[in-house]
Amino acid sequence: MLEVINLVKDFSCIRAVNNVSFNLSAKTITAVIGPNGAGKTTLYHLISGELQPTSGSVKLNGRELVGLSPHKIVKAGIGRSFQITSVFPSLTVQQNIRAAVIARGDRQFNFWQNLQSDISLKQTVSEVMSLVGIENLATTPLQHLSHGDRSLVEIAIVLAVKPLLILLDEPTAGMSQSETNRIVELIRYLQQEMGCTFLITEHDMEVVFNLAELIIVLHQGSILAVGNSEEIKNHPDVRRAYLGV
Ligand SMILES: Nc1ncnc2c1ncn2[C@@H]1O[C@H](COP(=O)(O)OP(=O)(O)O)[C@@H](O)[C@H]1O
Ligand SMILES: [Mg+2]
Repeated sequence: MLEVINLVKDFSCIRAVNNVSFNLSAKTITAVIGPNGAGKTTLYHLISGELQPTSGSVKLNGRELVGLSPHKIVKAGIGRSFQITSVFPSLTVQQNIRAAVIARGDRQFNFWQNLQSDISLKQTVSEVMSLVGIENLATTPLQHLSHGDRSLVEIAIVLAVKPLLILLDEPTAGMSQSETNRIVELIRYLQQEMGCTFLITEHDMEVVFNLAELIIVLHQGSILAVGNSEEIKNHPDVRRAYLGV
């Protein structure tokens, strides 16, 4: 589904992503791991279009994404989490999801408001809230949510545009154990029951080993290893460079 080919990103004096290539299949969960500064977030931004690569290619079902605006990349089928604090803190969860669907979305919800599009918009909003299990938060203003609930709302907003591939950058960062578990369960449910495809960056190794079928280890911008959790746990270079063994 996703092909990343020889991707390079240079900042002024550092090569943050160095010739990275990998493929993702549909309906899988892949995690990108690596120590701080390894290039995970940069890679994420290169795929979502917030950063332009120095060279290389990113293809979604054969279509080149490099050069498209972030908005077009969302439309092409890549959903990504974003800073929800930049949305509308005083509006409710329901209103925010609704706004996200309209702003990022389907032509069907654009511009010509009519009864039919209003009904299908309401349906989309309530479907994603129930999928994520946040119906109880529908009328809560965003600013009153806990950190964990805010992440669930972020995932709901991503789902609302029905992406082919979902990118999440450290979805459990700063969360309690129970909030982390809930996110892990949700991601697994969405993959297994809904056939969603995920690429996540994650620092929590327990989450990664628990969730990801394929793990890509980045080290100083380059791929150090690729494999399943057993292969990664036992990989000598990974143990040396990352697990500190
Ligand atoms: N906008 C930027 N300008 C200059 N250097 C950057 C920028 N963003 C990231 N870097 C550098 O690129 C490297 C990779 O960073 P990042 O992708 O954030 O790593 P990670 O997410 O794995 O912690 C780091 O050395 C970081 O300092
Ligand atoms: Mg990062």
